[in-house]
Amino acid sequence: MAWRPLLLLPWLVAAVSGNTAPVFNMTLVEVPEDLPQGAVAFVLTAYDADGDPLQFGLEGADAFYFSVNSNTGSVTLVASLDRETKPRLSLNVLVSDGKNQMVTKRLTVIVEDRNDNRPLFQNEPYTANIPENTPNGTTIISVLAEDKDSGPASRVSYQIVEVTPNDAKNHDLFRVLGNGTILLNGLLNYIQQSTYYLIRINATDGGGQLYGNLVYQTTSTSVSVNVLDQPDLDPQFLNEPYVGSVPENCPLGTSVLTVSAMDRDTGVNDVILYSLTNTSLPFAINDTTGTITVTGALDRESLPSDEWLLEVLVSRGSPWQPPPGSRP
Ligand SMILES: *[C@@H]1O[C@H](CO)[C@@H](O)[C@H](O)[C@H]1NC(C)=O
Ligand SMILES: *[C@@H]1O[C@H](CO)[C@@H](O)[C@H](O)[C@H]1NC(C)=O
Ligand SMILES: *[C@@H]1O[C@H](CO)[C@@H](O)[C@H](O)[C@H]1NC(C)=O
Ligand SMILES: *[C@@H]1O[C@H](CO)[C@@H](O)[C@H](O)[C@H]1NC(C)=O
Ligand SMILES: *[C@@H]1O[C@H](CO)[C@@H](O)[C@H](O)[C@H]1NC(C)=O
Ligand SMILES: *[C@@H]1O[C@H](CO)[C@@H](O)[C@H](O)[C@H]1NC(C)=O
Repeated sequence: MAWRPLLLLPWLVAAVSGNTAPVFNMTLVEVPEDLPQGAVAFVLTAYDADGDPLQFGLEGADAFYFSVNSNTGSVTLVASLDRETKPRLSLNVLVSDGKNQMVTKRLTVIVEDRNDNRPLFQNEPYTANIPENTPNGTTIISVLAEDKDSGPASRVSYQIVEVTPNDAKNHDLFRVLGNGTILLNGLLNYIQQSTYYLIRINATDGGGQLYGNLVYQTTSTSVSVNVLDQPDLDPQFLNEPYVGSVPENCPLGTSVLTVSAMDRDTGVNDVILYSLTNTSLPFAINDTTGTITVTGALDRESLPSDEWLLEVLVSRGSPWQPPPGSRP
């Protein structure tokens, strides 16, 4: 009875090798993030040595993005992709020939970047307070826009598109560097020019594909520039010339006249002090009121003239000390 195993063996081998399981060797597919829902994302392809009709399926946490045609393996997108929130998806692919055990393989979906993000300005609003005597070329403020796309589509450049008040001179009053740093490109003047500027700045990315077109994305912001007054103008006397007269025998302390000067700068700079340049004369001036009084005997006979010329000095009492202006 030794022939029986010999008969049985070929049959067993035939049963095992007669039909082979399908081979599925895809490991990675790329899908653009701007693929519309309902479009075919990719096609699952498996190989079956026996030419059996194959059935496809998808599983896994990210399978909800797709719907698969079980007969053709065609995979359709059913939920929107966004590379910036989910750059890769993980799927389990199931392939069956209906005869052998189901084949299960892992498939990674790389979500390709498209230029779907605009640059976004950070830390808005932008306000700069700059003294009117700021030197040309000084940094005023830095703006920063970030673009979440990758490659050139993430590279941001800046452009000053408008300066208000909008005139030819102001358009070049500021300059923006490649990194968003804004420099003064001229000189300010609180009195003769504007005390306030609004700089409109566009941030534009380096461009990239979106829905089949080369697209550049732009965002606009504005920078408020307040020009701060500095005590750079000399005070000016009002109602010049001043003439006063007193009787020669008047009591000490008699008021002769009051001079008055005004600071042409605004606000906190208005601290004005009066003084007489020649302190050896018989007069004094109240440093805050400007009232000139008699402090010595005005003996006409002993004096060279019956006219006195008093020189009053007016200066700013603010901490910033310019060369004081003096007027007779
Ligand atoms: C997958 O398998 C098929 C059939 O064996 C072969 O032609 C193809 O080159 C394979 N692809 C890869 C990426 O290995
Ligand atoms: C921008 O560039 C300028 C010149 O290269 C540099 O001096 C400045 O520090 C930069 N600013 C920032 C915020 O990176
Ligand atoms: C300010 O500096 C820029 C660049 O150096 C120069 O082109 C411009 O003429 C200067 N403006 C003034 C008013 O000095
Ligand atoms: C600046 O950006 C705004 C808003 O994105 C846009 O409407 C305008 O055309 C841009 N200006 C320039 C000169 O690019
Ligand atoms: C101050 O006045 C006196 C008297 O007129 C004169 O002699 C003297 O030169 C004056 N001094 C100054 C600094 O002007
Ligand atoms: C100046 O005048 C004010 C107001 O009359 C007075 O209060 C002050 O004491 C005077 N200053 C001097 C130094 O006399």
